[in-house]
Amino acid sequence: EQRVKWVIGNWKMHGRLAENAALLQAVADGASAIGNSIRMAVCVPTPYLAQAQALLSGKPLAWGVQDISPYTHGAYTGEVAAEMAGEFGATLAIVGHSERRAYHAESSELVAAKARRALEADLTPIVCIGETLDEREAGTTESVVGAQLDAVLKLLSVEEAGRIVVAYEPVWAIGTGRSATAEQAQEVHAFLRARLAQKDASLTRVPLLYGGSVKPENALALFGQADIDGGLIGGASLKSEDFLAICEQAK
Ligand code: G3H
Repeated sequence: EQRVKWVIGNWKMHGRLAENAALLQAVADGASAIGNSIRMAVCVPTPYLAQAQALLSGKPLAWGVQDISPYTHGAYTGEVAAEMAGEFGATLAIVGHSERRAYHAESSELVAAKARRALEADLTPIVCIGETLDEREAGTTESVVGAQLDAVLKLLSVEEAGRIVVAYEPVWAIGTGRSATAEQAQEVHAFLRARLAQKDASLTRVPLLYGGSVKPENALALFGQADIDGGLIGGASLKSEDFLAICEQAK
């Protein structure tokens, strides 16, 4: 059975109301032209959820947030609950992005708790994992990403795990212009697919996205790999022509 391809934009901390309006409009128009054969989404900075909801409702372009709290509510200054994002129509939440792990000291256990919280609130968690350059050069890529994935699988039931999306993002490829080669990415994706199958055979259907310097020029080779089900796009998601060109390669 063919798995559907996903292309998700992660705007990170970019955007202002006026430029977002033009970008969202252009991407929504492009998504309408591409149609429903792939899944397209953008993860915007949280203050712009209402803008995304106003401009994207009814379009084949979902929207989400870039992080959520592991808690439902309470004295957690500055945090955003999954239900709050859901009230603005968000259906996705990135959790465990390497920038959160690195700059906000997020552990794999915290990332797992966020993934479970997202699922409880009916958001699809995009669980990000990936090794640093040092880890790759030390030959520990599989043990690092395996442990990051295991922490999430340990906390979730099989039914819950069947509703996650995993994004493999080698840290050395993020925002560097230096993508993993299609072969390097495929190797890790095949490893992750097998790891999911160890928990339950049904989990081979979990979408496995690649992220890290995906561009219109390298998307086709990446998306053509057997275990790569699409991409999580940073920099190139800020330009509608680039983002839509990448989406075209996923068709
Ligand atoms: O979440 C997206 C990734 O961090 C990739 O970012 O496409 O700018 O390398 P990038």
